[in-house]
Amino acid sequence: MKRIIIAIDGYSSSGKSTMARDLARRIGYVYVDSGAMYRAVTLYALENGMASQAQGVDSEALTAALPSITISFTPAGADGRQHTLLNGRDVENEIRDMKVSSMVSPVAVIPAVRHHLTRLQQGYGKEKGIVMDGRDIGTTVFPDAEMKVFVNASAEERARRRVKELTEKGEEVSYDEVLENIRERDHIDTTRKESPLRKADDAVVLDNDKMTIPEQMEWLMNLYNSRCL
Ligand code: DC
Repeated sequence: MKRIIIAIDGYSSSGKSTMARDLARRIGYVYVDSGAMYRAVTLYALENGMASQAQGVDSEALTAALPSITISFTPAGADGRQHTLLNGRDVENEIRDMKVSSMVSPVAVIPAVRHHLTRLQQGYGKEKGIVMDGRDIGTTVFPDAEMKVFVNASAEERARRRVKELTEKGEEVSYDEVLENIRERDHIDTTRKESPLRKADDAVVLDNDKMTIPEQMEWLMNLYNSRCL
């Protein structure tokens, strides 16, 4: 069967990572979570005094530090998940907490950060047979991807899902705080100058507010099968 590139873009907490990972596992493709890469760079900036809630991000210092930031992924473990490594350290849990979530959008607007990560992401796609999810995969990273999906879900539904996910991990968060963070990230992600979040002209929209996970998988598999003919 023909091996293709699959780009899945959409708003934060729209469930796109779960669906991209499940799809990759099902069809035997490599999965890359591009958001995890932006999160890892953000964690690096926070840990090295280049970003804080009060001061914002020191984009010059972070740009200069980019060559010393290595991001990689472990193979999927028993839980079916790949873990993100920052300079060889497993940071999978830390990059998902609120401290990182609330600083990641200002880091992701820095052009040098975007160029650096885009190049790394394009490298992963050289062999095709890849599913990558993010914000600009179908528009900037892989504009020639054979299959592009744009995932839509309301901010309220996404906030509910995110609260559930964080609560299950033992993090105490309020629905209002999470909803505000999601709205703020939507705003920054869609209005930034460099590679803003938008649907590629040739992407197919998946509205998943009221779809179950098996329904989404069936929808994706139908599209995938049609693109591999
Ligand atoms: O998918 P996520 O919520 O884990 O992504 C975290 C942040 O990274 C998100 O707020 C915007 C940014 N991002 C981006 O700008 N471009 C991507 N391709 C992926 C993520």
